[in-house]
Amino acid sequence: MTKAADFNDRSLSLGLARVSEAAAIACTPLIGRGDEKAADQAAVDAMRTQLNKLDIAGVVVIGEGERDEAPMLYIGEEVGTGTGPGVDIALDPLEGTTLTAKDMPNALAVIAMGPRGSMLHAPDVYMDKLAIGPGYADGVVTLDMSPSERVAALAAAKGCTARDITVCVLERPRHEDMIAELRGTGAAIRLITDGDVAGVMHCAEPDVTGIDMYMGSGGAPEGVLAAAALKCMGGQILGRLMFRNDDETGRATKAGITDFDRVYTRDDLVTEDVIFAATGVTDGSLVHGIKREVGYVTAETILMRSKTGSVRRMIYRNPVA
Ligand code: FBP
Repeated sequence: MTKAADFNDRSLSLGLARVSEAAAIACTPLIGRGDEKAADQAAVDAMRTQLNKLDIAGVVVIGEGERDEAPMLYIGEEVGTGTGPGVDIALDPLEGTTLTAKDMPNALAVIAMGPRGSMLHAPDVYMDKLAIGPGYADGVVTLDMSPSERVAALAAAKGCTARDITVCVLERPRHEDMIAELRGTGAAIRLITDGDVAGVMHCAEPDVTGIDMYMGSGGAPEGVLAAAALKCMGGQILGRLMFRNDDETGRATKAGITDFDRVYTRDDLVTEDVIFAATGVTDGSLVHGIKREVGYVTAETILMRSKTGSVRRMIYRNPVA
């Protein structure tokens, strides 16, 4: 593992913001054009080009997929100039491909970087996730609690009633029972159609987003990215991998996972200090999306360092040809 002391997160952070910016800006002509694949490809190409300009010896730990299914930014790909610290990279050049194609809220270009060995090699399977914002005692809500127990526990900790709690959930048939149980508590539910990295991040700024808790299953790679974000913003996330067949357990074994029932905390998913950058592709509660004007494009990025807890929101306006 790269020594945490060798990971100069301060000097690397602005470079990381350029990487997510480039990916988001590359999507500009494809926002609202109904073509998920083209938008994703544009983001991947731009992110990879910009990432390879950084003076790092990077390895993609969370990426576009296994090498045989993703030609670029695949898991294990070496990125950067090769001169510089050894780092782990978790990325999703376009988190919310359908959101982008339909011009719906909260599509992001996302990347996190930490010292080598600092991120869980999460296989591309589902993860059962539970997240809350900062300021609560560890373990106030757990994956073993039922959805209604979680609402009651969070309301007690917040000093409010269940009706004052808002839970964010991916709208999926697999979540119907959970949603019905949550409705029974009186809590409000913010249903999202995609984009659970943003969904989890929303818990960290409840005053801005109105969301107190995130729960439900989504991609495990997105779980690691969300953990990196919460490590910077504050807040808790718990995750347990879910396996539907032998292929999925095989993927986990290949990734080095031996305990299939383990509950990962935020600091198990990301063990060392990290930097995290996300640029808005479509408008969202945390950052604005890409804005087009004649001759210009404007992008907003949230750039964070867990070591300092610093959160920067940066607006970048650039002439386009
Ligand atoms: P894409 O950007 O790859 O389309 O993923 C979006 C997403 O909504 C993630 O945020 C989430 O973790 C996952 O898909 C959920 O998967 P599923 O659509 O199978 O429920």
